[in-house]
Amino acid sequence: MTKYAIKRAGEPILRTPVQPVAIDTIPSDAFQQLIKDMFKIMKEYNGVGLAAPQIGLNQSVLVYGFESNLRYPNEKPVPQTVLINPTVLNMSDEKQVGFEGCLSLDSLRGEVPRATSIEISAYDAKGQSYIKKATGFEARIIQHELDHLNGHLIIDRMPDFKHFGFTEVLLENKII
Ligand code: NI
Repeated sequence: MTKYAIKRAGEPILRTPVQPVAIDTIPSDAFQQLIKDMFKIMKEYNGVGLAAPQIGLNQSVLVYGFESNLRYPNEKPVPQTVLINPTVLNMSDEKQVGFEGCLSLDSLRGEVPRATSIEISAYDAKGQSYIKKATGFEARIIQHELDHLNGHLIIDRMPDFKHFGFTEVLLENKII
């Protein structure tokens, strides 16, 4: 266990845009521990990604990645990635609608359109700046976690709530 717990929808911090991380603090023990804790709590909750506001921290950092995942059993592995102070450089105009959940919304899920490819500038866990390009499900995860950094939740992104519901009920009804 870590000292953190997942903040659920209703917490004001989930609706508050984050502050940038001071780059010279990235190598510090405290920040390195934070990154480890974020991966740990993401795995404890079977998440594919986690943004700092979801554990109550007002900082521009997100993590994601998995080998296999119970919440998204049909998705291929996504490499473990840390994005600190991410900025979007490019996003495709082409969008794809897909079912998305969120650890801050328990088992609720709905259809969210996302750009099919994205290019990000960010700092990694060593404090090096780099460019991250992603497509498909990885691009979807990045857009979801970036939304958290800006105070947005998936419900803000759903043009149609027709298939919004609890994962277990959607499964029972063969909607997902
Ligand atoms: Ni989320």
